[in-house]
Amino acid sequence: MSSLEAIAPSHDTREFRADVLTGLAHTPKRISSKYFYDRRGSLLFDRICETPEYYVTRCELEIMEACADDMARQLGEGVLLVEYGSGSSIKTRLLLDRLQAPAGYVPVDVSREHLHASCDRLRREHPGIEVAPVCADFTQSFALPRPARSVDHAAVYFPGSTIGNFTRDEAEQLVRQIAQLCGRKGGLLLGVDLKKDPAVIERAYNDAAGVTAEFNRNLLHRANRQLGADFDVDAFEHLAQYNQPLGRIESYLVSQCEQQVSIGESRFQFSAGEALGTEYSHKYDLEDIEKLAAAGGMNLRKVWTDSRRYFAVVHMVHDG
Ligand code: AVJ
Repeated sequence: MSSLEAIAPSHDTREFRADVLTGLAHTPKRISSKYFYDRRGSLLFDRICETPEYYVTRCELEIMEACADDMARQLGEGVLLVEYGSGSSIKTRLLLDRLQAPAGYVPVDVSREHLHASCDRLRREHPGIEVAPVCADFTQSFALPRPARSVDHAAVYFPGSTIGNFTRDEAEQLVRQIAQLCGRKGGLLLGVDLKKDPAVIERAYNDAAGVTAEFNRNLLHRANRQLGADFDVDAFEHLAQYNQPLGRIESYLVSQCEQQVSIGESRFQFSAGEALGTEYSHKYDLEDIEKLAAAGGMNLRKVWTDSRRYFAVVHMVHDG
């Protein structure tokens, strides 16, 4: 904790504290995966993407490299491309380079810092495209900025299988919101991890080098640093198992002994073997994707996959 945080906790810290206190009081205990990504967590995620077992990022990149041309054509002329996430990645650049007379590019991110850094770079690297950032939580409603060029239609780009962290209901709700935001002719270009041999999925979330385990445990390090909690981090073990009926990998931190954790005045008791839920990563098949599109009143237009059919980038459009 910085000395300033000790005096005046930021909005982020207050929200993190409230969520952790509520989540630890819940049965079974849980903390949201959205808190994985502090500075160390983001670095650990980058390292996960480099592990031989975590195919997700490489597969999506393979698809973008092979199909960005076709995607740009599908998105059509005069599109206002709205990215959920700050758009700092190589995938975004592949797409932006190929858009035909885009009306503009709108990165949406809760982090002002991330937005700022990526906008500077985007403007430098794509001087022909108006960049109009929005600092917002995309799960809440927000308005689209009006760029100088006229907008033929809007489309949301939501890469990275981040949708996997939403429950099926939450994902449907989000697609409904996207359909509403983009309006007539609006679309969604979505990166989503596919259902496959559970052994392949489980290996991806249990890499041999233990990077994913460290990523998961970082949640407790973060609580110790930012909230002054006293988690004995080494007394929790990483567990990731595929729930086949629900089509999702579930990640937990399992208490290795009976222990007590304090956060301020609050105390939480863990029994030996008790699991703290930290992440769901939902996997999709074509039927699930069709259902998602239908929830937003959209039609599935095109599906691009990698050579092993591990991952898909899909385009759905509101024809109404
Ligand atoms: C960034 C949410 C797509 O669920 O695969 C990686 C995060 N968790 N290894 C995923 C993650 C464990 C990742 N997403």
